[in-house]
Amino acid sequence: MSKVNITVMVSGGGTNLQAIIDGIDSGYIDQGRIVQVISSRKEAFALTRASKIGAIGIHIGKDNFHDEEKRTAALIEALSRTQTGLVVLAGYMSILPPEIIKRYRHRIINIHPSLIPKFCGLGFYGQKVHEAVLACQAPISGATVHFVDEGIDTGEIILQKEVPVLKTDTVNTLSARVLEVEHRLLPEAVRLLCKKINQNLI
Ligand code: GAR
Repeated sequence: MSKVNITVMVSGGGTNLQAIIDGIDSGYIDQGRIVQVISSRKEAFALTRASKIGAIGIHIGKDNFHDEEKRTAALIEALSRTQTGLVVLAGYMSILPPEIIKRYRHRIINIHPSLIPKFCGLGFYGQKVHEAVLACQAPISGATVHFVDEGIDTGEIILQKEVPVLKTDTVNTLSARVLEVEHRLLPEAVRLLCKKINQNLI
């Protein structure tokens, strides 16, 4: 069985990247392999995680590619060079250009730390999502894996899981509870998508 080449795109610590790495190491993700990690930030710890598994780690961000066209060209080049079949946004805090979304339709997925369509869209990312959930006193939050389309967090939902929000929660306790779910949901989605890609089902 051939393996799907996965590029993971990140901006920060990369605990979701690590969950995918662990899923591949344990054999749970049996039809995919990480070939590359692209970070929008030079200092992202996720790049260290990439080098530990011998994957290509590159920085393509607004700071080293000021010009949008050149940045897009660099991303396209990196994805084609590695024959990427699946792109996973795992804590990637930039917006992908439409050219890439068009080229990789149904081949780009994103993990978001809320129950989409709640607490998502422009301005809702990372800890800001949890702050908003707590400010609204929402009783439930969760995580969602979805396909990426031209909108922000608007693509078709692949997997979603709820977590309770406790009255005593802080941003830290809530984000930790949601992250735990993310670390199960994302490998599950990657496993599923690699299978479907291999079977030409998507
Ligand atoms: C995760 O909670 C992920 O869902 C979120 O950023 C965090 C990254 O953590 N992504 C977004 O908010 C995207 N809109 P990680 O770097 O430890 O994986």
